[in-house]
Amino acid sequence: MQPSLRLGLAGLGTVGASVVRLLNKHSKDLAVRCGRPIVLRGVSARDRTRDRGIDIGNVNWFQDPVKLAMDPGIDVFVELMGGSSGPAEDAVRAALETGKHVVTANKALLARHGNDLARLAERKGVSLNFEAAVAGGIPVIKTLREALAGNSVSRVAGILNGTCNYILTRMEAEDMSFGDCLKEAQRLGYAEADPTFDVGGFDAAHKLALLTSLAFGSEIDVDSIYIEGIERITLADIEAADELGYRLKLLGIAERTESGIEQRVHPTMVPKASAIARIDGVLNAVAIDGDFVGRLMLVGPGAGGDATASSVVGDIADIARGTALAMMGRPSEHLEPYRPAGVRAHKGGYYVRLSVFDRPGALAAIAGRMAEKGISLESIVQRRRAPHAAVVGTQAPAEPQSIIMITYETTEAAVREALDLIRNDGHVADAPQFIRIEAL
Ligand SMILES: NC(=O)c1ccc[n+]([C@@H]2O[C@H](COP(=O)([O-])OP(=O)(O)OC[C@H]3O[C@@H](n4cnc5c(N)ncnc54)[C@H](OP(=O)(O)O)[C@@H]3O)[C@@H](O)[C@H]2O)c1
Repeated sequence: MQPSLRLGLAGLGTVGASVVRLLNKHSKDLAVRCGRPIVLRGVSARDRTRDRGIDIGNVNWFQDPVKLAMDPGIDVFVELMGGSSGPAEDAVRAALETGKHVVTANKALLARHGNDLARLAERKGVSLNFEAAVAGGIPVIKTLREALAGNSVSRVAGILNGTCNYILTRMEAEDMSFGDCLKEAQRLGYAEADPTFDVGGFDAAHKLALLTSLAFGSEIDVDSIYIEGIERITLADIEAADELGYRLKLLGIAERTESGIEQRVHPTMVPKASAIARIDGVLNAVAIDGDFVGRLMLVGPGAGGDATASSVVGDIADIARGTALAMMGRPSEHLEPYRPAGVRAHKGGYYVRLSVFDRPGALAAIAGRMAEKGISLESIVQRRRAPHAAVVGTQAPAEPQSIIMITYETTEAAVREALDLIRNDGHVADAPQFIRIEAL
């Protein structure tokens, strides 16, 4: 048997503690599968005295994760602290500089500094593995980087944030408002006290940035991602989606188009019959379209200590076996600068909900504005009563009424321009709601 693979692990929180438990539980099998033992040589966290329910009694403690990263007694530095800069970045750079392989679950760090860190890892001839950074326990990085190496990928679309999927699922199932569902998610520990990062779509964007680079061989460019969160989704939208044969999901989508690569995170209407429409609760899912394989869908737990530890240890096992791959599946010098396709150029169907003053000619004027911009309507539904009349009480006839339209394929620019005109015409009571429809 080869010599042991020696690990230094920084971060003993939700994921780090599960990694320690997994390594202890499956040490024998792992040694057999990898052809060498995997041993934990050093750990680092902030509070040495905290009882973490794990056995690290005879492992060296490092108060400074950078010192652990540089320690000559380790071969692999496992970074599970989090954060796009600070100790996580310093320690990962120090590990790579001193010739250690790195395994990390830190999407925020890689979305910001991944291009640079990939080049550094290559220069030093070491691995930078990050399966756990995207969709927790789902092996989507391995799938794109290795299993699909023979495909040209045209689109990756995923439910990449369990908190958002939980909230949207509950809103639909329980007829609850966004605010109430968010409170429930916070009570159950599915959402942070400050939920902006999740519900605003930023967490999904970090993951999407990494998937885009892998799928299309482009440099990571998180700042170019178009991001909309789920905060503006109402029960009226969820009910209308249901009636029209759709479900609402927050998707991260990367797609090759004639004008470049689209990267967008936004609430999306997906046909009820599609596989991704049926992914409920905190689960994640990623659909990948490849030219030879067709459509693949991977589903599983996108978070949680144990599921994420499963991915972390899979990455460690690769290093133990001697599997060495460039971070993005091709040498960094072959990654092309990201060529963005602006969201206004996006082509697709749209759901539009307007709150229209009940005046003669209003509907005809609205339809006229849509036609003026070349938008054809697949359906138009007029509601005399508010969708939640039973809850809020019957509306007086003079109150605005909901008009819901589904368009055929058009461009986002056309939709935005038509809605601006409709708003300026004074027929609508508040800002129009529009949601992209994705054929999946
Ligand atoms: N949780 C998930 O389900 C999940 C899923 C996928 C990816 N991830 C990623 O995995 C990483 C870890 O997440 P987590 O949920 O396990 O976080 P967590 O529970 O907050 O744990 C963070 C750990 O890092 C330690 N730490 C923080 N700053 C440190 C410093 N300056 N020096 C040494 N140790 C430090 C903390 O020490 P103390 O314990 O002493 O405070 C703690 O043990 C993040 O990048 C996250 O995005 C998490």
